Amino acid sequence: MFKKTLLAIALGGTIAATAQAGEVEVLHWWTSGGEAKSIAVLKEMVNDAGHSWKDFAVAGGGGENAYTVLRSRAVSGNAPASAQIKGLEIQEWGDLGFLADLTPVASSNNWDGILPAVVSDVMKHDGKYVAAPVNVHRVNWMWANKKVLDDNGIKPPKNMKELWAASEKLKAKGITPIAHGGQPWQDATTFESIVLSVGGADFFNDVFVEHDQKALESKTMKESFDEFKKVKSYIDKGAPGRDWNVATSMVIKGEAAFQFMGDWAKGEFSAAGKKPGTDYYCLAFPGTDGTFTFNIDSLAMFEQRNDDNKAAQMKMAELILSPKFQDVFNMNKGSIPVRLDQDMSGFDSCAQASMETFKATSAAGKGLVPSMAHGMSTTSAIQGAIYDVATEFFNSDMSSDEAVMKLSRAVRAAQ
Ligand code: BGC
Repeated sequence: MFKKTLLAIALGGTIAATAQAGEVEVLHWWTSGGEAKSIAVLKEMVNDAGHSWKDFAVAGGGGENAYTVLRSRAVSGNAPASAQIKGLEIQEWGDLGFLADLTPVASSNNWDGILPAVVSDVMKHDGKYVAAPVNVHRVNWMWANKKVLDDNGIKPPKNMKELWAASEKLKAKGITPIAHGGQPWQDATTFESIVLSVGGADFFNDVFVEHDQKALESKTMKESFDEFKKVKSYIDKGAPGRDWNVATSMVIKGEAAFQFMGDWAKGEFSAAGKKPGTDYYCLAFPGTDGTFTFNIDSLAMFEQRNDDNKAAQMKMAELILSPKFQDVFNMNKGSIPVRLDQDMSGFDSCAQASMETFKATSAAGKGLVPSMAHGMSTTSAIQGAIYDVATEFFNSDMSSDEAVMKLSRAVRAAQ
């Protein structure tokens, strides 16, 4: 018996020592409280599998900074093993020939069977998996401090009209209605939710996916800009340059009533020990109930020369799709799992509602739209052009008519 135990320990030791050789360097921008807690789960699982994790975090919401660093590392021939790359960016890196083929892991773990097509399509380049999806974020949310709303006799606004009425009431009492961070990607996040609210899902697709000039020059587009400008009268003076998680903490602390942000904001509420329905409300962005703007986070894998590092990278890809990782990561992150077969019973009411809307909109083939602000709907060049116009409009006295003209021109030029 004793001999057997010794043998088992020795064998276990050998296996661990062999596997230990692999290292996986991961570039990401998950640095806020909720985000860091989420990614720590993957690090732990990679370490437990006998490999080592090299953290390469580049702060900056929305990922612009991380992308810049990634580009400079890649052109100097020193790309990390894995990087947080999303949507059409994956195609751009795949076209350049940087990404590794994950087919063996994907086939043996039946990724095609467990992932909805809307997710797996984004992860493939030339029909082969090159990235592992970690989650699905919904972007068209509005977060609200329940006590601020209750104390002021305000019901959760269901449409833009109710939102402005509530904001006017709060402003009159000296309360900041909307916590905003004035950074281009946050302006774009708000703008796209407004376009969805004003024009609906088909219009959103016409503008941000099809780039249809008629839609871009339409009255609905002008109206969207009109609504977008209204946000400005309900934000505070500290908004320019503010990080998104700082804006979330204003709502958490009751220093502002609302924030328009994807459900990574929920990760901050959770990390602060706040509960939906008791401390805060997760609400569909006014006028967008029943629709879902999706933003899928993924870790793309770069070609590796070293076999041990390749093994570590493939192991990490496998772990990402495991039910355990999908559970813990997404509970911390505020998102929903990518696996359609995931048990949702441990998730909060916001995540359950999100999953329901995700499934319903994908089954109906209606109401599920890719986020422009988060790289799902269009190329980085067109996304950049839209960011520029939205931000310039928001921060100047440009008229909505002029913004419509500028936007349609900028999109055309970037195509
Ligand atoms: C990412 C999220 C992240 C957020 C803020 C989004 O683009 O998809 O994972 O939490 O940016 O950094």
